[in-house]
Amino acid sequence: MTEIHRGLAGVNVDTSQICSIDGERGELIYRGYDIRELADQASFEEVVHLLWFGELPTRSELDALRDGLRPAFDLPGEVLDLLARTPKGTAPMHALRTAVSALAAFDDDADDTSEANLRRVGTSLLGKIPAIVAAYQRLQAGQEPVAPDPNLGVAANFLRMVNGEEPSDAATRVMDVALVLHAEHGSNASTFVARATASSLTDPYSAITAAIGSLKGPLHGGANYGVMQALESIGDLAGVEPYVHGKLAEEGGRVMGFGHRVYRVMDPRATILKGVSERLAQESGDAKWFEMSLEMERVMDAAMEAKGKQVKPNVDFFSASVYRMLGFAKETYTPIFALSRTAGWMAHLFEQYADNRLMRPRLVYEGAKGKTFTPVDQRG
Ligand code: SDX
Repeated sequence: MTEIHRGLAGVNVDTSQICSIDGERGELIYRGYDIRELADQASFEEVVHLLWFGELPTRSELDALRDGLRPAFDLPGEVLDLLARTPKGTAPMHALRTAVSALAAFDDDADDTSEANLRRVGTSLLGKIPAIVAAYQRLQAGQEPVAPDPNLGVAANFLRMVNGEEPSDAATRVMDVALVLHAEHGSNASTFVARATASSLTDPYSAITAAIGSLKGPLHGGANYGVMQALESIGDLAGVEPYVHGKLAEEGGRVMGFGHRVYRVMDPRATILKGVSERLAQESGDAKWFEMSLEMERVMDAAMEAKGKQVKPNVDFFSASVYRMLGFAKETYTPIFALSRTAGWMAHLFEQYADNRLMRPRLVYEGAKGKTFTPVDQRG
């Protein structure tokens, strides 16, 4: 009997040195470091260096990475024009996917897959993707894009390019933590797509564009948008329980922000973001979204326990209320996921190109057999 693994569930396609996930114990490790330590102490740029080079940077290595990033936030004028001409109301992930694909046309070495060039493209995208996300949010709101400040890191520059003002240290730190938590997660759908795309030895822009398309989906990175969409449609605390039970009563109904292919317990990133959301709620005095999230978690826990299932909050659940309290439009939540995951996607591309084998799984054919051709005028 031919074994089929739908969704490639549980299938090991290669080895990797980048990330380890223990779904039973709820542990996430980047290159040997526990995510809780990294979220607590590391900047996003330090985590980028860790993911790309295998070790946390020394001061001079961190300065070199930051120097390489300074010009990366600048966008070709033609790409800014493309964003400005994108029809109003176009979902930001459509705009991001299109703009990243367009960047290849302005890179004379786009097709060079040598390690040195991949690192150059990775550094360039690490600055250009946040710049695209920020510019598009402003253009869609009828505002002019804000030029990046080459002296700021990714988190602060992104906040500044979105809001048009210097971010507070507190907001920058929250953004940094969110970027660290979303940077990498093994062979998730979009990272697998990036590696599978690169395995034909196509260019890195094609691989990252494909990954953005995969991340956009509501079962993957699009879930954080879905969480806020649900909370907004519910409106208040009293509406949470009926919403959840209504959703669970639907055939195949899924409550966004819950469940995971690998974690059987709460996603450690959700635990950290829950704490961030609670702190932001206390500091802002606007506890509505955090309290509704807590209620949704309580109702889901009870409902799943009654069904004998382990369906816990994942990274997308509490990130929704965090981003809301940071002032982001919900349409920008998944693009924020994408600008962070560019770090992980590139780490996996370095690994794939360095020791490549074309990815080509099989499908067990169950279609028709033994048919003979008839000319079109003799067909019924
Ligand atoms: C991310 O893979 C990664 O690492 C991804 C990610 C990363 O960092 O890259 O962690 C980021 O994508 C997190 C996931 C975000 N997606 C969502 O929040 C969407 C809602 N979640 C589900 O669609 C689902 O949980 C998935 C897609 C995340 C996982 O799907 P699986 O592994 O295919 O599991 P399943 O859909 O077969 O569900 C198993 C059981 C089902 O019960 P039965 O139908 O078999 O009786 O658990 C139940 C489901 O009913 N279940 C849910 C549920 N998720 C699973 N029930 C209600 N609501 C949910 N969200």
